[in-house]
Order: sequence, then structure tokens, then C-alpha cells
Amino acid sequence: MTHEDMIALFPAFHEITDVQLRSQALAAMALAAEKGGWTKETIALCPVTLNWENCKTSWIEHVNAVARLCLLAYGETAEYYQRNGVAFDRNVLVAGALLHDIGKLTEFQLRDGAVTHGGGFELMRPPLSGALLASQAGLPDKIVHLIATHSFEGENSYQTAESRFVRTIDMFVFTCSVEGLKKTGGR
Ligand SMILES: [Fe+2]
Repeated sequence: MTHEDMIALFPAFHEITDVQLRSQALAAMALAAEKGGWTKETIALCPVTLNWENCKTSWIEHVNAVARLCLLAYGETAEYYQRNGVAFDRNVLVAGALLHDIGKLTEFQLRDGAVTHGGGFELMRPPLSGALLASQAGLPDKIVHLIATHSFEGENSYQTAESRFVRTIDMFVFTCSVEGLKKTGGR
């Protein structure tokens, strides 16, 4: 996948004003897609989960919803952070929202036309695999940490203002996407 392909799929990349960070974020997503075997033609088939029966939400839909809602919610709440003297980096928020689930591109794979879990998916859950991919792409620790702690792995972990924000929106979006569905596996 080229950077242009990913920007077309995820317009929120335009919101990252730090050119180096945007370039690293695109490199991290490309690396994850390459490692998971996803291409421009197949990536729309990547799911957000296989643990809920008949969940039709795609990885692309999920990531776009998280990124867009993070931007909307931050627009409504940025003043609170400023008022309270809390440093909040909007670029970290957007890059973190776009990258929080890059590990899912290696969690799932397309094999003989069917989507399945990739090898070692239990060992290298998306927060761990995604954080490693982000680190490999040269992203700063704040993004690597955000990815590593965004799921239940981060329940008892230190959170930055940005990581807590993405984590909260991600959980909300994910919960909405499985509302009414039966859980069939995983945690
Ligand atoms: Fe997510």
C-alpha cells in the first residue's frame, strides 16, 4: 500500500500537521499491511474482530470512526485541557487514533479467500504487535505507548492525556459496533 492509498482511505492523515510524524505514521501503517499481507485490493476485507458473531464492521470503518470521533470530541473538550494546564498534543491524538489498531493487520489474514486469525495471534495481540511496528517505523514513545496500552493491557498502566482519550473513544466505538451481537471467543 502506498502512502497515497492510505491517505485516500483515512483522510484524517491530513490532520497530522507534523510532517515527520505523518510520514512515520504512514510508514507504520504500510509496514503493518505488508506484514499482514493486506493490499490496496484486499484491505477492505480486514475485520475489526472475529470474536463476535456476524460482526460486519471492517477495520477501515473502525479506524475511521475512532479517528473522526477523536477529532470531534477533542474539538469539544480541548478547552478543558487548556484550562487545567494539561499539555495535549493534537498530532499525537490523530496519529494515535489512526495507528492504535495497526496490530490487527497482523492479527488477521486472508487465506484462500477467507479471513482467519494469523499465526501467533494470541501471543502477539494487536497492542503489542502494533506497538512494535510503530517503534520499528520510528514513531515516538508517546505513540508506541498509546498503542501498547489502548486495550485491556493498559488497564493498570500509566496513561497520557492522549492515550486515555483514544482508549476511551476506541472502547465506545467498538462497543457500539458489537451491540446486540453474541460473543463467540476471545476476551
Ligand atoms: Fe480499536
